[in-house]
Amino acid sequence: MENFIFCNPTKLIFGKGTIASIDAQLPADSVVMMTYGGGSIKKNGVYEQVRKALGSRRVVEFGGIEPNPRYETLMKAVASAKAEGVDFLLAVGGGSVIDGTKFIACAMGYEGSDPWDFVRDNSKLKSVTPLPLATVLTLPATGSEMNNGAVITRGSSDEKLAFHHRDVYPRFSVLDPEVCYSLPDKQVANGVADTFAHVLEQYLTYPCHAMVQDRFAEGILKTLVEIGPGVVKDHTDYDTVSNYMFSATMGLNGIIAMGVPQDWATHMIGHELTALCGLDHGVTLAIVFPALMSVMRADKHDKLLQYACRVWGIDSGSPEARIDEAISLTRRFFEALGIKTHLSDYGIGDDIIRSIVDRMSERGWKLGERGNVTPDKVKLILEAAK
Ligand code: NZQ
Ligand code: ZN
Repeated sequence: MENFIFCNPTKLIFGKGTIASIDAQLPADSVVMMTYGGGSIKKNGVYEQVRKALGSRRVVEFGGIEPNPRYETLMKAVASAKAEGVDFLLAVGGGSVIDGTKFIACAMGYEGSDPWDFVRDNSKLKSVTPLPLATVLTLPATGSEMNNGAVITRGSSDEKLAFHHRDVYPRFSVLDPEVCYSLPDKQVANGVADTFAHVLEQYLTYPCHAMVQDRFAEGILKTLVEIGPGVVKDHTDYDTVSNYMFSATMGLNGIIAMGVPQDWATHMIGHELTALCGLDHGVTLAIVFPALMSVMRADKHDKLLQYACRVWGIDSGSPEARIDEAISLTRRFFEALGIKTHLSDYGIGDDIIRSIVDRMSERGWKLGERGNVTPDKVKLILEAAK
């Protein structure tokens, strides 16, 4: 096992009717900016519950944060929060609203001229103290409600980049599974695929004797295999939705990452597909992961065999045949969620592959747990995803 330091300060408040508990968590005199997306919270009753819980505090609303949150939109929120003297941010939404709010939190404390600079170069965040934030999660997928990362898109340059800050963990996150009942099937499919991919990014690397972390990761993967396709079709059963929601949070809150190598190449390639073609985040992962498993099968050989056996129950046949079958079952799992897994299904061809490979070369990126997913490998992966 590798050395590690673990600290996750987010308080989780999980269960039915928990939105009301916001009141007790927030200082009575705080000036709160409540951020949200395109309006789903006004149709499913979440907006009213949150406003009621905020009581008589001064609340500044900022709605309209779009999926794949944009720097251009978020800068308007920063201006408003500064003008109104906001001292606490409450994100009510999915990963996009939460990530956007993390950007606002950091931008409020940033003294440089343009906050996009810290998205491009995370080292510029070192001396920044972000504004405190909390979340009411409405879409289980990204784990953003309990981690310190965010992914922001800049429309003018078609860039989609991640940043991390040690102090941008939400102070608390409210997870009421009942808010998922109103989710469109497609968003649940994206959320299950994203969670599955997060676990694979931290698990499907090379063995390092992290027995407990491996079993945790396999537990989440097996839970998703068991409930994933069903929860896409019907997400109104409280117990099933609770397990989906908890899987998503546990998939990317640092717990399964302790002491293990991590990959993240699929995510980095996927972000380019979203930036250039507008595909949903979960969809990009379902396209790239099976292809990456094939291209990187020699490097991931031992873990692929473990994955085949422990997640899919494949324990006979030659090692290569077992790996082939595990890759094929992974693809079938994404397809059972209703997500097509080939670039051609989305009309994406060689021109986009070339653009992504060129971008990776310009940035000098070497991805993956061994830093050997070079632009040439990215090309092979995208060719295999055609
Ligand atoms: O905007 P509204 O009207 O709220 O509608 C949203 C949005 O259209 C809708 N929705 C959310 N909750 C709902 C609901 N509709 C009905 N009922 C509800 N309860 O769902 C749509 C998609 O929302 P979005 O927040 O974009 O989805 P998701 O949570 O999948 O977030 C995706 C973003 O997170 C980033 C992705 O790159 C992408 O930008 N990620 C963030 C990560 C992190 N911070 O750690 C890690 C991930 O790998 C990922 O990269
Ligand atoms: Zn993801």
